[in-house]
Amino acid sequence: LPVEIRPFASYGSALHIALPQAPRAGQLLTLLIDYEAGEGPGVCWLSPEQTAGKQKPYMYTQGQAVLNRSFFPCFDTPSVKFTYSATVKVPEGFTAVMSATSWEKQKDNTFVFKMSQPIPSYLIALVVGDIVSADVGPRSRVWAEPCLIEAAKKEYDGVIEEFLVVGEKLFGPYVWGRYDILFMPPSFPFGGMENPCLTFVTPCLLAGDRSLVDVIIHEISHSWFGNLVTNATWGEFWLNEGFTMYAQRRISTEVYGLPYTCLEAATGRALLRQHMDATGEDHPLNKLRVVIEPGLWGVNPDDTYNETPYEKGYCFVCYLAHLVGNQSKFDAFLQAYVNRFKFQSITADDTLEFFLEYFPELKEKGVDSIPGFEFDRWLNTPGWPPYLPDLSPGQQLMRPAEELAELWAADSLNMEAIEAVDIMGWRTYQLVYFLDQVLQKSPLPEGNVKRLSKMYPKISKAQNAELRLRWCQIVLKNNLEAEYSKVKDFLHSQGKQKYTLPLYRAMWGGSEATRALAVETFSATAPQLHVNVQNYVKKILGLGGAE
Ligand code: BES
Ligand code: ZN
Repeated sequence: LPVEIRPFASYGSALHIALPQAPRAGQLLTLLIDYEAGEGPGVCWLSPEQTAGKQKPYMYTQGQAVLNRSFFPCFDTPSVKFTYSATVKVPEGFTAVMSATSWEKQKDNTFVFKMSQPIPSYLIALVVGDIVSADVGPRSRVWAEPCLIEAAKKEYDGVIEEFLVVGEKLFGPYVWGRYDILFMPPSFPFGGMENPCLTFVTPCLLAGDRSLVDVIIHEISHSWFGNLVTNATWGEFWLNEGFTMYAQRRISTEVYGLPYTCLEAATGRALLRQHMDATGEDHPLNKLRVVIEPGLWGVNPDDTYNETPYEKGYCFVCYLAHLVGNQSKFDAFLQAYVNRFKFQSITADDTLEFFLEYFPELKEKGVDSIPGFEFDRWLNTPGWPPYLPDLSPGQQLMRPAEELAELWAADSLNMEAIEAVDIMGWRTYQLVYFLDQVLQKSPLPEGNVKRLSKMYPKISKAQNAELRLRWCQIVLKNNLEAEYSKVKDFLHSQGKQKYTLPLYRAMWGGSEATRALAVETFSATAPQLHVNVQNYVKKILGLGGAE
């Protein structure tokens, strides 16, 4: 058939195939497309040095949002769902895994995968590497390079099943069969990616104490919100992420209790605050519904990524729950919502219409147009959420951290009061919350941060990535030159976008010395970063990267 490749966008082109005659409605059509993939942002080829084991090369794909078009020809929009199968032949000594409901190894190191549930293109994912697996639950195993598998098993042995069971109790059946976790090489740009049956995660989660398990709960929550009920366009990404944040915190509340979950939610709110302060509340990206025109003049949805769909989206779902006023009734609604729209792609209008249908007494009351809280305002007006859920049940954990941060911000330090606070027993998220408070108050009076660093090696020498990020941010904001090397080391050790970009922004917005540090660090680490992340850093450093 005549084939033509036409320009489409900076992030892909359109494949036009002329059919001999127009197909009839309902006619089944089979197209066989012979193609080669290689270059392109969706498929990442890593050299041995870029892996944990440093022995063998590695390849992985990352589809979300619109990268899989460089992996295989597809309708690369979340509004189209399909099943898939794949036959993958890899060299001896390598294993292939995919986001599939079944897989089987055949002769000649050939793997056959099948995804039997319809999914959007962005959820197809492949990894080929020197990877092995270990069971961590009745339907879960961890995958990692051999040198990491012990740590991976230890981190999550026996904990995954409980999250799945609670998720099923709250949101309905888990339809994907297995839930496995693959620990990626350090340059993986995300904390986690919810590829069905096989979540991809950053190796930074290997903290040794399960303290970063909220990322796993988040990705598990996508099994219902995102992977079953999917945003029809990337302009309504909050339908995926806002509902997932809500589901994550529901599961967390059931498993870890309300105080801890409120503390975690407070750190999320702090991220939204930081984002809105940096962009200005009125920024057009600070609304839940974003206009993303596809095509030549369109925006790459990845370039719109920020905290709003996550945390403002979370607040909107909390607001809906608040309107209902009863947790178990709202849980039942969520389950009905998943059941109503599973395997479909929908818009926020579908969601809200279903909400009002499900609660006719609320529809009657006109809850969609309460002045200041109009559904339309939630979706289409940028700015701070008009409603915030009450996080005061977390006060017992937050208050000591707030008080300690205040002590450290004083002009003359009250060491007696400071020494009376024992942080050794604090949870990681309490320390994170404390550090966010310190960062907010920074720069602290001369000498305080140096003293703080000495006093709490648990923080300043932390191996935990969430703590390292905050410590690096504090070091930069306070011009603590003696510890600049920690920023460099952290950026050399991993390439997660949410860690990398804030640090480059801080370095570029700082002194001549931190700018030099940024340039030096980027020239050394750029080849290891995901191409999207590379481009965003270039843009921050004024090197003419992504627009
Ligand atoms: N689906 C996202 C990651 C993503 C978003 C990839 C947009 C590509 C484009 C994933 O579920 C996610 O939100 N990950 C977070 C986890 C956190 C919110 C617990 C991350 O990576 O930080
Ligand atoms: Zn997510």
